[in-house]
Parts: sequence; C-alpha cells; structure tokens
Amino acid sequence: MRIPSLLRGSVLWFVLSCLVPAALAAAEAPVDRTLTGDKVCTRCHDESEAKPVLSIYQTPHGVKADGRTPGCQSCHGASEAHVKNAAGAETRPAVDVLFGKGADAARVSAACVSCHQGGARMHWPGSAHQTRDVTCTNCHKVHAAHDDVRDRKTQAEVCYTCHAAQRAQSHRISAHPLKDGKMACSDCHNPHGSIGPKLLIKATVNETCYTCHADRRGPFLWEHQPVTDDCSNCHTPHGSNNAPLLKAREPWLCQECHSANHARTVYSGQNLPGSAQITLNGAQDPGKQAPTAQLNGRSCSACHAKVHGSNHPAGAKFNR
Ligand code: HEC
Ligand code: HEC
Ligand code: HEC
Ligand code: HEC
Ligand code: HEC
Ligand code: HEC
Ligand code: HEC
Ligand code: HEC
Ligand code: HEC
Ligand code: HEC
Repeated sequence: MRIPSLLRGSVLWFVLSCLVPAALAAAEAPVDRTLTGDKVCTRCHDESEAKPVLSIYQTPHGVKADGRTPGCQSCHGASEAHVKNAAGAETRPAVDVLFGKGADAARVSAACVSCHQGGARMHWPGSAHQTRDVTCTNCHKVHAAHDDVRDRKTQAEVCYTCHAAQRAQSHRISAHPLKDGKMACSDCHNPHGSIGPKLLIKATVNETCYTCHADRRGPFLWEHQPVTDDCSNCHTPHGSNNAPLLKAREPWLCQECHSANHARTVYSGQNLPGSAQITLNGAQDPGKQAPTAQLNGRSCSACHAKVHGSNHPAGAKFNR
C-alpha cells in the first residue's frame, strides 16, 4: 500500500516526537537539581578542599528555599564518569563542565545563560565581551561568598585586570569618584551588552550622562550644538588632567572648533568688548586700548560662562 507522502511525514513526526523527549529525559534523569542532590559531590568535596567550594551555600546560589537554585550538577553537569571513576584512574576523568582556566567560553556562557537569560543580559549575544570570548566567570566568582564584581567598592579592580588604560585614567586629577567606590563602572556601562555604543547603559553618550547630570539636558533657549550632539566632544569620562574632565585646556578646547575674531588666536583681542582693533559694530576705534586681550588667553568660559546652553534672552553667545 502506498502511504500518501503527507501522511508519511506525520507518521515520522509522531515517532520522533515520542522518541526525542524520551531521549532527553533519559539524559537528564540522573541529574538531581535540588541541593540535597549535592551529596553526590559533597561526600568528597567538603570543607577540607584547598579552595573553598562549600562557600557557595553563602551565595544567592545556596538559597535552599528557592526551587530554582542550581545544584552542583546544574552547573558542572551530571559528571558520571567523574563521580564513579569506574576505571579507577589515578587522575579522575574531569567533570562534564569545567569553569577554570582554559575553559571554553561558549560552554561556560551557555551553562549560566540557561538560567540567566533576558533582563540585564538581553543583549549578551553579540556584545563586545561575548564576541571576544570574555565569559561570565571572567568577572563573576560563584563559589566565593563575596563576588567582587557585584560590589561597587571592588568592581573596578575586576575590570582593570583587562582594562589597564581606564585604571591609569582614574588616577588623573579630575575623575569620577570611582576610586572611593562612590561610583562604579556599571553606573555607565552594562558589561553584559546594551543597545548603545561601548556597552553604555543608554542608547547614547548624552542619555547616559543625563541619568545623573539632568541639569545639562535642557532644552535651553540657546543651545550649544556640540553639547546636544555629544558630551564627549569636550569631556572624557574616565579621567583627565584638565579639570573638569576636559579633553583639552581652554582656550585650545574651544579653538578646535572656533576661529572667528577673538576666538582665533590665544591673545587676539578682536571684537572683545572694549577691544581696540574692532568694535562690536565692526568699526575701527583707535581711541581705545585692548585691555582684554590677555584675559582671552586665560579662559573663554570666564566670559562664555554658559557653555552648556543659556536660558537668558540675551544669552545667544552664552555670556549669561
Ligand atoms: C569519589 C570522590 C569524588 C566525587 C564523588 C566527586 N569528585 Fe570531584 N574531584 C575528586 C577529586 C579527587 C578531584 C581532584 C582531581 C584529580 O583527580 O586530579 C576532583 C576534582 C574536581 C573538580 C576540579 C577539576 C579541575 O581540574 O580543577 C571539579 C570541578 C569537581 N571535582 C567537581 C565535582 C562535582 C560537580 C561532583 C559531583 C557531580 C564531583 N566532583 C564528585 C573527587 C570526587
Ligand atoms: C552556579 C554554577 C555552579 C554551581 C552550582 C557549582 N559550581 Fe563549582 N564551579 C563553578 C565555577 C564557575 C567554577 C570556577 C571557579 C569560580 O568561578 O569560582 C567552579 C569551580 C569548582 C571546583 C574547582 C575549584 C576551583 O576553584 O578551581 C570544584 C571542585 C567545584 N566547583 C565543585 C563544586 C561542587 C562540589 C558544587 C556543589 C556543592 C559546585 N561546584 C557547584 C560553578 C558552579
Ligand atoms: C539552574 C539555574 C542556574 C544556573 C545554571 C546558574 N544560576 Fe545564577 N542564579 C540562579 C538563581 C535561582 C539565583 C538567585 C535568584 C535570583 O536573584 O535570580 C541566581 C543568582 C545569581 C547571581 C546573583 C544575582 C543577585 O541578584 O544577587 C549571579 C551573579 C549569578 N547567579 C551568576 C551565575 C553564573 C555566573 C552562572 C554560571 C557559572 C550561574 N549563575 C548559573 C540560578 C542559576
Ligand atoms: C565584564 C564583566 C561581566 C561579565 C562578563 C558578566 N557579568 Fe554579570 N555582572 C557584572 C557586573 C559589574 C554586575 C553588577 C551590575 C550592577 O550592579 O548593576 C553583574 C551582575 C550580574 C547579575 C546580578 C544582577 C542582574 O543583573 O540581574 C547576574 C545574574 C549576572 N551578572 C549574570 C551574568 C551571566 C550569566 C554572565 C554570562 C552570560 C555574566 N553575568 C557576565 C559583570 C559581568
Ligand atoms: C561616567 C560614565 C562612565 C564611567 C563611570 C565609566 N565609563 Fe567607560 N566609557 C564611558 C563613555 C561615555 C565611553 C565612550 C566614550 C569614550 O570612548 O571615551 C566609555 C568607553 C569605555 C571603553 C571603550 C574605550 C575605547 O576607547 O573604545 C572601555 C573599555 C571602558 N569605557 C571601560 C570602563 C571601565 C573599566 C570603567 C570602570 C573603571 C568605566 N569604563 C567607567 C563612560 C563611563
Ligand atoms: C577578561 C578580560 C575582561 C574583563 C575582566 C573586562 N573586560 Fe571589558 N573588554 C574586554 C575585551 C577583550 C573587550 C573588547 C576589546 C576591546 O575593545 O578592548 C572589552 C571591551 C569593553 C568595552 C568596550 C566595548 C566596545 O563596544 O568597544 C567596555 C565599555 C568594557 N569592556 C567594559 C568593561 C567593564 C565595565 C568591565 C568590568 C565590569 C570589564 N569590561 C571587564 C575584556 C575584559
Ligand atoms: C551615576 C551618576 C553619574 C553619571 C552617569 C555621570 N556622572 Fe559625571 N559626575 C557624577 C558625580 C557623582 C560627580 C562628582 C561630583 C562631585 O565631585 O561633586 C560627577 C562629576 C562630573 C564632572 C566634573 C568633574 C570634576 O572634576 O569636577 C564632569 C565634567 C562630569 N561628571 C561629566 C560627565 C559626563 C560627560 C558623563 C557621561 C559620559 C557623566 N558625567 C555621567 C555622577 C555621574
Ligand atoms: C563645548 C564643550 C563642552 C561640552 C560639549 C560639554 N561640556 Fe561640560 N563643561 C565644559 C566646560 C568648559 C566646563 C567648565 C566650565 C563650566 O563649569 O562651565 C564644563 C563643566 C562641566 C561640569 C562640571 C560643572 C561644575 O559645576 O563643576 C559637568 C558636570 C559637565 N560639564 C557636564 C557635561 C555634560 C553632561 C555634557 C553633555 C550633555 C557636557 N558637559 C558637554 C564644556 C563642555
Ligand atoms: C566640537 C566643536 C565645538 C567646540 C569644542 C566648542 N564649540 Fe562653540 N559652537 C560650536 C558650534 C557648531 C556652534 C554653532 C554654530 C555657530 O553658530 O557657529 C557653536 C556656537 C558657539 C557660540 C555662539 C556663536 C554664535 O555665533 O552665536 C559661542 C559663543 C561658543 N560656541 C563658544 C564656545 C566656547 C567658549 C567653547 C569652549 C568652552 C566652545 N564654544 C567649544 C562648536 C563647538
Ligand atoms: C572678555 C570676555 C570674553 C572672552 C575672554 C572671550 N569672549 Fe568670546 N565673546 C565675548 C562677547 C562679549 C561676544 C559677543 C560679541 C558680539 O556680540 O559680537 C563674544 C563672541 C564670541 C563668539 C561669537 C562669534 C563672534 O565673533 O561674534 C564666539 C564663537 C566666541 N566669542 C568664542 C570665544 C572663544 C573660543 C574664546 C576663548 C578663546 C572667547 N570667546 C573668549 C566675550 C568674550
């Protein structure tokens, strides 16, 4: 008898759908995912261990009342060969999932992500860290009672092991208060990935800065274009020797973009109020001195005090 191909397909599908879950269940059956199941491992791995192992019970992974809490085998795998060591080998066969040095980054991430998907880790796949084989356990210590990277006081040290440039910058005269633990890298970055550039917590640099510096957001009657564009046109986030966190000192900072009249050279007095060379309406006034030329070299923001934008009706030049 000829079985119609459509029907044949569904017979195959029926057979498979019975077999596959059965096979999966068989593979998972020996794994006890409750903490009592840990006895399989803790009869050998106890307090006598050189590196503390049981301290995991003092972490969020040791909360017995929480049914989702992983047991040894949820992370390390059933590891039957390791437990039984049937061959009696001097060095036991390794556990199914190893996390230490040389561990495969993708496998480690997969083991953790199986429970920690979504939320703050929504953008983990494809993030700068994930694609460069940085994995969960490069930052997190799961057996230790204290997870340095989740403590604001110790977090930066974990990051600095790989990001030495940011450590150096944090020692400059002007810096965000990271050293004292008042701030953490994770106030601006989501190390698990984000929709913004450079793992920033928000979609843009400015949105990230506004989370704390809301007063710079505006809208202002007179906006200064580079400010609304990107704070990092003038500021650097991790540290600078030009306070406050400026990329360059004034007047050079401003002269990178401005070259008209008195903005042109450091000691140009051109069109400054009271200047000899050109008055504000453009006419020569030989009767006047140029008392402000030196002042110009000191600081543009001495006069243009509202560089972030002005709400004064006459603040078009950010002088008030
Ligand atoms: C019968 C005793 C015994 C049992 C049961 C046992 N282990 Fe081990 N395990 C050892 C010994 C001994 C070592 C030291 C490794 C060696 O043989 O060189 C070890 C090593 C390890 C290591 C470190 C491997 C490395 O290279 O650093 C991990 C991880 C581990 N065991 C996890 C587990 C887990 C998880 C379980 C439960 C599923 C378990 N063990 C059950 C005896 C045991
Ligand atoms: C949440 C996942 C997770 C659970 C649960 C877990 N481990 Fe681990 N284990 C790790 C990671 C990750 C490492 C690598 C070192 C680290 O990050 O602390 C590790 C390392 C080890 C080591 C090697 C020692 C070392 O520091 O190199 C042993 C032995 C071990 N685990 C045994 C156990 C035993 C026994 C249990 C159950 C009591 C257990 N693990 C539960 C993830 C886990
Ligand atoms: C079987 C599921 C499971 C696995 C696998 C697992 N975790 Fe967890 N994890 C939990 C649960 C449950 C909690 C505690 C409840 C919560 O806050 O989400 C937790 C808590 C945490 C916390 C602390 C969260 C907090 O708010 O305090 C961190 C960090 C963490 N896990 C990292 C890891 C890492 C890294 C791995 C891989 C080595 C891993 N987890 C593997 C289930 C798991
Ligand atoms: C580059 C370092 C780094 C890597 C890699 C990393 N984390 Fe984290 N993780 C952190 C920091 C920092 C925090 C604290 C964030 C905060 O306080 O806002 C954190 C917090 C957490 C928390 C608890 C708070 C929360 O966001 O829910 C969990 C759970 C967690 N990480 C799981 C993981 C898992 C799973 C992976 C791997 C897929 C991973 N982490 C990879 C640095 C890292
Ligand atoms: C005040 C917010 C803020 C804090 C706090 C902060 N960053 Fe950043 N970070 C930024 C911004 C904004 C950028 C992107 C602009 C840039 O490259 O200067 C960035 C870029 C980076 C980059 C990429 C640099 C490059 O050249 O591509 C790394 C790496 C980095 N940060 C690491 C860290 C580390 C590690 C810490 C904690 C010690 C930290 N950041 C704290 C705001 C911050
Ligand atoms: C194990 C090493 C390692 C650790 C620890 C680490 N990073 Fe990274 N990080 C990297 C690598 C590798 C890259 C990608 C290459 C690069 O741009 O330097 C990167 C890139 C970055 C970037 C730039 C992302 C981009 O899009 O260019 C930021 C921001 C960053 N890390 C922040 C952090 C923060 C915050 C921490 C601590 C919570 C941290 N990193 C811990 C290795 C690490
Ligand atoms: C989590 C909050 C937070 C975020 C986000 C933040 N800052 Fe700050 N910022 C601070 C704190 C706190 C200070 C220190 C204020 C003090 O010392 O009085 C500060 C100080 C500053 C200073 C003055 C530094 C000095 O030496 O006086 C500048 C400039 C600055 N931030 C720019 C930025 C820029 C640009 C961004 C975005 C890339 C940003 N901040 C994001 C909290 C934040
Ligand atoms: C055109 C260059 C420029 C841009 C762009 C810029 N700033 Fe500034 N910022 C300065 C200068 C110059 C100072 C120092 C003089 C002053 O306080 O007005 C300063 C000072 C600051 C201070 C310290 C103020 C204080 O009272 O100590 C903070 C905070 C700050 N800026 C945040 C920001 C934020 C947030 C952005 C982006 C929205 C931004 N800046 C964009 C030039 C700039
Ligand atoms: C990244 C480039 C950039 C930097 C750096 C910059 N500006 Fe501007 N500035 C602009 C742009 C663009 C405008 C608007 C276009 C225009 O009208 O010339 C502007 C407008 C101005 C105006 C109003 C000009 C007018 O004709 O109405 C003043 C005044 C001014 N900036 C002062 C400063 C001062 C003071 C600094 C240094 C603290 C500075 N700017 C740094 C790009 C910059
Ligand atoms: C002594 C006060 C003072 C100092 C110092 C000063 N300015 Fe001005 N600036 C003014 C005044 C007042 C105006 C308005 C002139 C006008 O309306 O024509 C102005 C106008 C400007 C303009 C608008 C374009 C123009 O020529 O009218 C720019 C751009 C500018 N200044 C940039 C700078 C920069 C950059 C510096 C530092 C190198 C600086 N200023 C230093 C007072 C000052």
